[in-house]
Amino acid sequence: MALDRFGRNIHYLRISLTDHCNLRCVYCMPEDMIFRPNAELMQDDEILRLVQLFVNLGFDKFRLTGGEPTVRAHVVDLVRELAHIPGVRSLSMTTNGVLLGRLARPLAEAGLQRLNISLDTLDAEKFRRLTRWGTLEDVWQGILSAEQAGLRPIKLNAVVVRGYNEADVVDLARLTLEHNWQVRFIEMMPFAGATDLQVKQTVTAEEMLQRIQAQLGEVEIANGGELDGEARLYRLKDAKGEIGFISSVTAPFCAACTRARLTADGRLRLCLLREGEVDLLTPLRAGATLDDLRQLILDGIWWKPWGHGLAEGVIPLNRVMSEIGG
Ligand code: 5AD
Ligand code: SF4
Repeated sequence: MALDRFGRNIHYLRISLTDHCNLRCVYCMPEDMIFRPNAELMQDDEILRLVQLFVNLGFDKFRLTGGEPTVRAHVVDLVRELAHIPGVRSLSMTTNGVLLGRLARPLAEAGLQRLNISLDTLDAEKFRRLTRWGTLEDVWQGILSAEQAGLRPIKLNAVVVRGYNEADVVDLARLTLEHNWQVRFIEMMPFAGATDLQVKQTVTAEEMLQRIQAQLGEVEIANGGELDGEARLYRLKDAKGEIGFISSVTAPFCAACTRARLTADGRLRLCLLREGEVDLLTPLRAGATLDDLRQLILDGIWWKPWGHGLAEGVIPLNRVMSEIGG
């Protein structure tokens, strides 16, 4: 078991398979984003060796992220190998959905269990404005393909940005009336330098909920008021699905955090919003023993931070979301 100094049992690893992406969402990266050369990214065998180490330390839940994980070469083969490691109890992926039309079925057959799919608006023009390069129809088809492939429950993630899609929360929430999906609204986190978006463009979960209730009526608390992962869940009257709010900015969920992250270049990142990292890939390539690596991971986890500094204006500068992996 990997414990930190606050007694949190860290057993959930989010692995960024690549920093590359086929979209350029305004809240995530600049349009002329420069990515790392592939040689700097973890290779398949390196990911598999590191995951085995994490399993040995008690990690049982793994999520593949990016950038966009589906643009990684041979992603289906990698998923198959990961799914077959004994001890990998939960294997899921966060994707923008663009390539799911053809990848959903192969991924499900390879052993992927669930998907979170990003969808910020149901308006095709706004979708293009937010993602710069994306086509809404591709993602919609991707969502349907994922559902048909059995990658359920479908969870949709919407990052809400003032001036772009704050009014669209209503149409997105309305999806849950007809579909047994979880539509989750995420407070935008400001990443200095990477985007032109300002702290004041973050829309609070409170405001989103008010907008939804003003149009669609009162919601009731779902899931007994318990957090589902990082989301607080509600249900619209007579809805098949649920809506959720991820208040990373206004109400961080540090006490319940059981996660660590592995960046695409093989650094263990202990908190999304703090800069501290432990390099695992360099020692792995330099021939470190499994015991050395294990100690590096355990020490890193022990010092996992508590609480982000967004309120005090402390914004992580060393990386953008596409490198850390959401
Ligand atoms: N704030 C909140 N979420 C973000 N994501 C990317 N950038 C931000 C941001 N600035 C989310 C995307 C996707 C995941 C990869 O990270 O919505 O779900
Ligand atoms: Fe790509 Fe996701 Fe970033 Fe959008 S938010 S640019 S889809 S990594």
